[in-house]
Amino acid sequence: MKSDERNAMTDNAIFEPYRLGKLTLANRIVMAPLTRNRAGAGFVPGDIAATYYAQRATAGLIISEGAQISQEGQGYQDTPGIYTQTQIDGWRKVTDAVHAKGGHIFLQLWHVGRISHVDLQPNAQAPVAPSAIKAETKVFVNNVFVDVSEPRALKLDEIQTIIAGFRRAAAKAIAAGFDGVEVHGANGYLLEQFAKDGSNTRTDAYGGSVEHRARMILEVAAAVAAEVGAERTGVRISPVNSVTSSDPQAQFNYIAEKLGQMGIAYLHVVEAGRGGPNESAAFDYAELRAKFANTYIANNGYDLDRATLRLTEGAADLFSFGRPFIANPDLVERLKTAAPLAEVNPATIYGGGAEGYTDYPSIAA
Ligand SMILES: Cc1cc2nc3c(=O)[nH]c(=O)nc-3n(C[C@H](O)[C@H](O)[C@H](O)COP(=O)(O)O)c2cc1C
Repeated sequence: MKSDERNAMTDNAIFEPYRLGKLTLANRIVMAPLTRNRAGAGFVPGDIAATYYAQRATAGLIISEGAQISQEGQGYQDTPGIYTQTQIDGWRKVTDAVHAKGGHIFLQLWHVGRISHVDLQPNAQAPVAPSAIKAETKVFVNNVFVDVSEPRALKLDEIQTIIAGFRRAAAKAIAAGFDGVEVHGANGYLLEQFAKDGSNTRTDAYGGSVEHRARMILEVAAAVAAEVGAERTGVRISPVNSVTSSDPQAQFNYIAEKLGQMGIAYLHVVEAGRGGPNESAAFDYAELRAKFANTYIANNGYDLDRATLRLTEGAADLFSFGRPFIANPDLVERLKTAAPLAEVNPATIYGGGAEGYTDYPSIAA
């Protein structure tokens, strides 16, 4: 047996370095994006966010919580933005703190589309969407969960404005010191709303066929990659979560193939498991992965055993962990040493201050 084969068969392969674009990640464990609703006035990440992310810097790569690219792109209270200078300055403290600990961090670029409420929108306008179809879901606004507001369909020229907004936000993320950006194309937000026919009934170039519904996410990815480099651009998708789709396999195979051709650094895939409407539909992630040329990050309900198995099968390159990172800042060390994992306190996930955010101890502490 060759040594690389032997390596691949041990649990340790996951704790070994991995080359992503120009970065060398310390291991194959990624911190998944986690919205925590703790931004300060002006939707600026505070010093406490720098502490929180630095505590988790032993992850091979951190992907930040979603950061709205504009006020229109916001759907929940107290989420941070990436469109003003004060937001850039706030994020700079985060990236400096993570880099000082030897970590790497990408910013997740977020536009919620129809998943919003008039109270969060500029001039209390209706949230925007590919089509005027309301989602059956709630958002957290004014300290309570409320039904989303009735959305309105975007005009063609407004679509171009949003694509330009993603590009500008990507430039700002790099100005804030991020190692790259992740385009949020998952979990029912704007780019997924375009990709799936359950939320997109447009009859122009951005709706209808697989190719037309893919146009928005692909144009955003291309604009972002043109700005910051494809090797610093990742894309997150969730083929069978959130919005219904009549053809998720064909749709996301196509998107994955095109993103691969663009040289996008990674595809970050939320692999079912959140009770989405299409979850029971058969979806072949191996087929999806085969369409995408570069790094594949698998997510959703992973633990070390499952991640190790998938790695040895060659089914994914990196594995992102979300909820486990909330209560375990030193998750990598705990997995490595088979130490017990702390449980999340559900009461302190969204909003508030240090409690349930920066006060989960590391084992070594
Ligand atoms: C509190 C919380 C906040 C989340 N925020 C985001 C987010 O901002 N962006 C995103 O793409 N996914 C978000 N997610 C989804 C997670 O990134 C991840 O897909 C999900 O938790 C499943 O992974 P896990 O089983 O490792 O937790 C969030 C999940 C949770 C629990």
